[in-house]
Parts: sequence; C-alpha cells; structure tokens
Amino acid sequence: MDIEALNAIAVKMVTPGQGILAADESTGTIKKRFDSINVESTESKRRDWREMLFRTDKAMQDHISGVILYDETIRQRAADGTSLVDLINAQDSIPGIKVDAGTTPLAGRPGETITQGLDGLRERLAEYYELGARFAKWRAVIEISPPEQMVKRTPSRGAIKANNQALARYAALCQEANIVPIVEPEVLMGGHHSVERCHEVTEIVLNSLFTELYEQGVKLEGTILKPNMVVAGKKCPTQPSIEEVATRTIKVLKDTVPSSVPGIAFLSGGQDNEVATAHLDMINKIGNFTWNITYSYGRALQQSALFAWKGDEKNYDAAQKAFNHRARMNGLASKGEWDAKLENA
Ligand code: 13P
Repeated sequence: MDIEALNAIAVKMVTPGQGILAADESTGTIKKRFDSINVESTESKRRDWREMLFRTDKAMQDHISGVILYDETIRQRAADGTSLVDLINAQDSIPGIKVDAGTTPLAGRPGETITQGLDGLRERLAEYYELGARFAKWRAVIEISPPEQMVKRTPSRGAIKANNQALARYAALCQEANIVPIVEPEVLMGGHHSVERCHEVTEIVLNSLFTELYEQGVKLEGTILKPNMVVAGKKCPTQPSIEEVATRTIKVLKDTVPSSVPGIAFLSGGQDNEVATAHLDMINKIGNFTWNITYSYGRALQQSALFAWKGDEKNYDAAQKAFNHRARMNGLASKGEWDAKLENA
C-alpha cells in the first residue's frame, strides 16, 4: 500500500469547488430512474446517458473531481469507441467503482439488512485497478424504524456492527490494492422519524464505524467518508430548518470523525436538488472544521438533466445545460459561496 499516493487521490477527490458524481446506479436502480422518463433501460441507452454526462466539459472539468461507475459502465465504450474511463480521465476527473453487491436481509435481525460483496473482492479490486479505478465505494444501509415501534426499534446494535465491520474489511482490501475507499454508512431518510432521532442514530453509526476502521487497520488519511446529513424522515410532520440540519450535521461529524480523514462527501439520499445544495452550502458557510466537505451526489446532480434529456438525442444540449447548472451550484456550495438567487440567474 502506498499511503501517500492514496492520500493524494483522496485530497484531489475533495478539492474545494469540486465533488463526486455518483453514476453507479445498479441496473435495477437505473431502470427505476429511466422509468420516470418513460425510457427503456437498455445497455446502449445507459451508455448514451452516462456518455452525455461525462462529455459535459464545464461540469466535469470544473466541478467533478471523480465519478463512481458501475461494473457495466467501467467496461463500456463511448459511441466513437473511446472507453468511458478514458473520457473521464481526459476531463481530469478520477474514475471510481462501486464494489458492493447490494443488500440482503440480515439473518437474526428481522427487518434489517447487510451489504454483501466481500467474497472475491481482493481479485475484483485488482481487476478494477487494471481497468482504471482509483477509488471505490461500498454502501451500508441503516434504516430507522417508525417511532411507535419502541420495543423492536431499529437499527439494532448488531446490524450497525455487522455493516460497519463489512465496511472496514472492504476499506482495508481497497487500500491493499492502492484504491481509495469511500465508506458510506447511509442512515435512510425515508420514514417518520424526527431530526433528533436521525442525529442520535447517525452519531452511534459513525462512532461504531471509526472503531471498526481502526480495528481493521484502515489508514484514515487514505479514506473518504460518505455520510448522510442529519435530516428528519421525509414523512416527519416537523421538518428542521436549513440551519438546524447544518448545525446538527457538523456537530455529529465533529463528535465522531477524526481529523486525519481528508474529506467528507455527502450522499443526497432523496433530498430535493436545491435543498441538498442549500444544506451543503450552509455547512460550509458555518465552517470551522478540519475536513474538506463536499458532495458525492447521485440524484441531486442528475435528476434535472435526466428530465431534460428524456432519452432523446435532440435534448442533448438541454441535458448538458441542466447538469452544468447543478454541478456549478454544488461546486459553489462546497465552498459556502452558493446563493438561492443564483438558481434562476
Ligand atoms: P444519492 O445522492 O442519490 O443518494 O446517491 C449517492 C450514492 O452514491 C448512494 O450510494
């Protein structure tokens, strides 16, 4: 393992003004996204969509430091025969790869899941390195049960521990392969739970995660954390202000994340596009922390472009314009320089 090289990649991934494009939707998830615009999800349509994003020069060169790819995508070629990995490198952005194999029910813990994909991971990482990946992603999913379920409420300690241990074992394997691990323990924002409950659970999850990373010998200087923000469940009747989300998120991070972690890149998790930008911006406006804090958004970077594209070549420019806009807004937010007025300027 070359920790200096890993650190240099991690630092570049969180360059102020830039962030990560999560374009690693599994075949099932991208089908759901395409269903929303009534487009059939074929291999070539998925390629067209992602090629269009990676060819959006301004967004890619100015605001996308890295792109998370899916197994199919890292092997694909653009319509002119250039590999998509080469396209991303040519934009001075770093190709990365999702390596988890999704979630499955966790035996012994009804209603909770464990992320799988550790078997054979050492060999897969070696292949992905050859294919050009310099960072990877693994997502653990933590679900908060409805408030009325006080007896069997989730997450359980067992599910948190099992998921974080898997994240730590994945991260150690990545570093052995000279690949920067993004560790993503996502506390889901669906449901009725309050912002206080999300705060409490996120704190427990992140505390446990850094214990597991330590125990598995993961070097934090070569690791990127991809957490959720501290928000209320989407169905909670009381929603916190932008300031409250930012203040609570910073508090949890300061209470749990060592300063040797070079960067934190949030997932958007189903937040509305502009709200995800406003939250990131407020976190950076408040500031006073040691890490670079930015975005690793999927939906919040792609949604408006997807609706502009609608699967039709003639909408290529409109889709690139929409992607450029969201990338620029989030780039500003990663420096605390966004303003709502810029959204319609
Ligand atoms: P969202 O920003 O859409 O949550 O996706 C980010 C991601 O990579 C989830 O694993």
